[in-house]
Amino acid sequence: MDVFDPGLAGVLAAETKLSHVDGEAGELVIGGYPLGLLAQHATFEEVAYLLWHGSRPDDGELAEFSARLSQSRALPETTLEILRRAAQKQRPPIDALRMAAATFDLDLEEGDTEGAPLALATTILARTASAVATYGRLRAGLEPVAPHPDLGHAANFLYMLDGAVPDPKRARGVDVYMMTVSDHGLNVSTFAARVITSTDSDIVSAVTGAIGALKGPLHGGAPGPALDMVFEIGTADRAEAVLREKLGRGERLMGFGHRVYKVRDPRADVLAAAAETLLAEGEQQKLYRLAKDVEATAIRLLAEYKPGRRLDTNVEYFTALLLHGVGLEADMFTPLFAAGRMAGWIAHCIEQAGLGRIIRPQSRYVGPVYTAW
Ligand code: ACO
Repeated sequence: MDVFDPGLAGVLAAETKLSHVDGEAGELVIGGYPLGLLAQHATFEEVAYLLWHGSRPDDGELAEFSARLSQSRALPETTLEILRRAAQKQRPPIDALRMAAATFDLDLEEGDTEGAPLALATTILARTASAVATYGRLRAGLEPVAPHPDLGHAANFLYMLDGAVPDPKRARGVDVYMMTVSDHGLNVSTFAARVITSTDSDIVSAVTGAIGALKGPLHGGAPGPALDMVFEIGTADRAEAVLREKLGRGERLMGFGHRVYKVRDPRADVLAAAAETLLAEGEQQKLYRLAKDVEATAIRLLAEYKPGRRLDTNVEYFTALLLHGVGLEADMFTPLFAAGRMAGWIAHCIEQAGLGRIIRPQSRYVGPVYTAW
């Protein structure tokens, strides 16, 4: 008997060694390690290595991987040209990234990556962050900045965006953010990447499709709107009235609710802690406090308006706050999400390719059947 759920809720469509999401316990394990441990001890490079190799790198392996990532950061001319054109039209950064990503392998010659399956993966990962940073400059009317060979992945992203070596606190904020979003079970964009890979298509096609899936506000496109909501509220005493109005109109509160988590998203805690460290002084600290107050009111009102739905804070809410603290414009949040999730997308592509089985569900026809033209 065929079971039909338009959202595929509860359908098991993959076995993975990459990450485990426990929606009831509010736990996320990446490459065997709870996220909290990674956020305390690891860097994004280590987590990307862990996802791609299945084990932590030793010092030598990490140095080699970091060097290869660093050497792969420069963008090909064609990619730069596409970013320039997108900037002329002031296209949203996530669209510019989607266009750029499709060209990431254009300058690679046939055979360049033969016998080195992770060489292309490393190039894509490195170039994603470069493309996001470069687009941030181009659309502001600034010239691109060449990558800094001595900086880590997160610090180099900020360097290529700002043209200056960043404060280590900001760089660590981006680093923690990127590792936090690096993988998350069979989320929508990862599923999209696995579906594309399952046809024996290539990795660039798979991650370009994944970027398209991530863009939507029901997936990765929510942090901008979540921050807008906090700014719209402005002061804690207005939170209840503004949120009641939104819920009364049937609007969704951005940054709350999750298909899998029925308790607080564990990524929210990691990002809230990183945001608290970064937004430690003056006006910034006031914003952090306001966001915490708005969060508490939102959770209380969601329980009142949507009883039994178990809606709590998701990753997007504190993403917004952290990345605002880093100094990014709101429409850069989702592209940076893509730069972090790229590590997981690629790992899933590799895992899926190893199965050699096409993902092909069925549909039930509910249209008419005519008997004459
Ligand atoms: N605000 C208000 N109501 C909500 C919210 C919310 N944020 N989220 C869910 N609901 C309500 C729905 O209106 C629905 O109520 P109803 O049954 O009375 O109509 C009920 O809760 C269930 O909603 P569904 O859409 O069926 O839940 P689903 O699991 O499919 O949705 C989703 C998950 C899309 C994330 C949803 O919670 C949402 O839209 N949240 C806001 C957008 C957001 O924060 N997105 C980022 C998600 S994190 C990520 O993907 C990286």
